[in-house]
Amino acid sequence: MMHKGLSVHWLFLSVLFWAHTANGDVSYSFPEEMKRGSVIGNIAKDLGFDVSRLSSRKARIDTEGNRKRFCDINLNTGELTVAERIDREGLCGKKSSCVIKQELVLENPLELHSITLRVQDVNDNSPHFGKGVINLEISESADKGKRFLLEEANDADIEQNSVQSYSIQNNEYFVLSVQSNSLGEKYAEIILNKELDREQQHEVRLIVTAVDGGTPPRSGTVAIHVTVLDANDNAPVFSQAVYKVSVPENSPVDTVVVTVSATDADEGQNGEVTYEFGHVMEDYKHLFSLDRKTGVISVKGPIDFEEETTFSLRIIAKDGAGLTSYSNVIINVSDINDNTPIIIVKSLNSPIPENASPGTEVGIINVQDRDSENNGQVRCSIQQNAPFKLVPSIKNYYSLVTTGELDRELVSDYNITITATDEGSPPLSSTKNIHFTVADVNDNPPVFEEQNYRANVQENNKPGSSICSVSATDPDWRQNGTVVYSLLPSDVNGASVSSFLSINGDTGVLHAVRSFDYEQLRSFKVLVLARDNGSPPLSSNVTVSVFITDENDNSPQILYPSPEGNSFMTEMVPKAAQAGSLVSKVIAVDADSGQNAWLSYHIIKATDPGLFTIGVHSGEIRTQRDISESDSMKQNLIVSVRDNGQSSLSATCALYLLISDNLAEVPELKDMSHDESSSKLTFYLIIALVSVSTFFLTFIIIILAVRFCRRRKPRLMFDGAVAIPSAYLPPNYADVEGAGTLRSTYNYDAYLTTGSRTSDFKFIRSYNEGTLTSDLTLKKTQSVENILGGLGNEVEHISQVCHF
Ligand SMILES: *[C@@H]1O[C@H](CO)[C@@H](O)[C@H](O)[C@H]1NC(C)=O
Ligand SMILES: *[C@@H]1O[C@H](CO)[C@@H](O)[C@H](O)[C@H]1NC(C)=O
Ligand SMILES: *[C@@H]1O[C@H](CO)[C@@H](O)[C@H](O)[C@H]1NC(C)=O
Repeated sequence: MMHKGLSVHWLFLSVLFWAHTANGDVSYSFPEEMKRGSVIGNIAKDLGFDVSRLSSRKARIDTEGNRKRFCDINLNTGELTVAERIDREGLCGKKSSCVIKQELVLENPLELHSITLRVQDVNDNSPHFGKGVINLEISESADKGKRFLLEEANDADIEQNSVQSYSIQNNEYFVLSVQSNSLGEKYAEIILNKELDREQQHEVRLIVTAVDGGTPPRSGTVAIHVTVLDANDNAPVFSQAVYKVSVPENSPVDTVVVTVSATDADEGQNGEVTYEFGHVMEDYKHLFSLDRKTGVISVKGPIDFEEETTFSLRIIAKDGAGLTSYSNVIINVSDINDNTPIIIVKSLNSPIPENASPGTEVGIINVQDRDSENNGQVRCSIQQNAPFKLVPSIKNYYSLVTTGELDRELVSDYNITITATDEGSPPLSSTKNIHFTVADVNDNPPVFEEQNYRANVQENNKPGSSICSVSATDPDWRQNGTVVYSLLPSDVNGASVSSFLSINGDTGVLHAVRSFDYEQLRSFKVLVLARDNGSPPLSSNVTVSVFITDENDNSPQILYPSPEGNSFMTEMVPKAAQAGSLVSKVIAVDADSGQNAWLSYHIIKATDPGLFTIGVHSGEIRTQRDISESDSMKQNLIVSVRDNGQSSLSATCALYLLISDNLAEVPELKDMSHDESSSKLTFYLIIALVSVSTFFLTFIIIILAVRFCRRRKPRLMFDGAVAIPSAYLPPNYADVEGAGTLRSTYNYDAYLTTGSRTSDFKFIRSYNEGTLTSDLTLKKTQSVENILGGLGNEVEHISQVCHF
């Protein structure tokens, strides 16, 4: 029996149930999903059967074929009950009427009744979307109002129990529109009510609910995931409008200068940013590189501050679809001390005259440094040990000026080093050598090596022989230091000094112009001038004292007795003269001096050698013993007077002594003069003279023959002036000591003495005519003259031959 709780339900259902019988068939209508055992209707009653007989007649429900048996008959009550679950949706789907055919079989007699079961729908199914989630992809560029069809919700129930409406969760982007198709089925669309922006919200989540019309209604939901698809609606955006950076010059290649960055809100290709240079000078592209992808700007070439201090680069950022934006990169190059200072000599006054006053500008220096600020600030210095300094002038100019007196003779050139250092850190510096020469000024007079000079000349020197040399030095340059010597004009013994000496202007060697005679002139002084060739010239002078030394060139002169026998002087010796008594005295003088004039007397021949002696130095002749009767009355003595010179010269004289007390006893004196020995001497002399003369005659003829061809007019001039002293004192025997002046009447004549010298014949020259043009001429002529000196008349004769 039915459960008590279900009675209300059954009450309601019973209204719906209806049974219909016709021709023994019965039909029932009832809701689906009734429980097993639920009574559908009393079929026995509806068909008019006796309930008690049902059992005996084996009443049962059958199906046609092997269809399922959904219901059973209660044999006791005749009620038809549910035997199997009846799911309308399972049996009939969407068909609007769902009918199940069953049969009631009775036996005895066999009866067959058809039972029609009409299953009514119950709202037992909810609307159901095919997927739990609907994924939609909508471009952000989709316009407002665009519709997107949703998959419809399915409800297995039919009619009123199927989907009746849809609703959408409240949201700002979409609204819902429900439509029915021709079959009356409801479906939903979502309509874009507001434009999407992926960059703001890249996903929208919605829930759509489908509701059926059952009582109570059932619903089903679906989640809608709207993915907003990107549209390239954003250009890249740089992080800075201007990038300002600083990079040191000379940065190595690949140094990163700056990284530019632009972002693009779009995604994918649309948001992929690449970088490139915009309008940039070609040169800059060689200096900087830009990485397309990363935006890294790095150094590519040499960056020189001195060339360019600022670079402005225009950078373009581009996304995949070609939207662009711009930015500027300003690169300031910072200076590095990479340029050494340069020293430029703008002008240089070299050589500088050595008399330039301190402070004279000798050069202008310019220093340059291409770096800037401190790196380009240059200090200039000069080495300390030179008399120069640098005076800063305008800007980077310096004047090089002298700080002291210059002296070419001390330092003739300067090698100055100028150093320029900048103030960078580390500082750079450079040096420059400047070479100066100092020009000469004639500021030094010649200076003689000695304060005064002394020359000793032996008399009878050869004319032209050098007697001494002076030397002066002048440290000046070239002609300013070239010394020329000359004799200062003066008088020596009334004659011009040039007749005594000449000087070689170049060498300073003094030559005797003539042969000196000590007996005439013992000393004299000359002033030698040394003059340089500067203009104006400077000069100095020095005294040369010439001392003539004596030579034994004068033989003693016997004053008494008279040397030549023209007056026959006879000394009387008393017969009674005793030993040691003075009988006579030989008086002799010598023009030389000193030893050369120290005379000694000797008896070289005597008639009676033992009778007389002569005082070696006094010349006094004394008897050696008493005169005896046996002694000859006439006694002759030959006395020789010798000087003490190196090669001593001598003179002889004869003394005639008459031993008598009475002058009347004197014999012819003439006989006495013819002394055999003296005539023998004369004979020898003549022979010697003749042989020498013959020899020289031949020699001279040869010389003259040679000369004749060269020189038609020989300069020889002979003057045969021969002076024979007439008085005891020879004319040249004059005192020349002390004042050193010669007698005004002095004439430098040679004289022929009657003494022992046979070569005393001298050639005479006139001084007035005798200025010598050159030493050479002097020597030549003199050599000939000397040779001729001893020849006398023969030569004179030859010279006349030459004159034609
Ligand atoms: C100057 O001195 C420098 C070095 O001190 C040297 O190299 C140069 O040759 C010198 N110049 C002259 C002209 O002497
Ligand atoms: C000599 O000195 C003078 C100035 O006194 C000067 O003008 C001249 O140039 C100098 N000569 C030489 C060769 O230096
Ligand atoms: C010689 O030198 C002195 C000074 O040394 C001078 O006084 C004199 O005038 C000079 N004599 C001549 C002739 O130049």
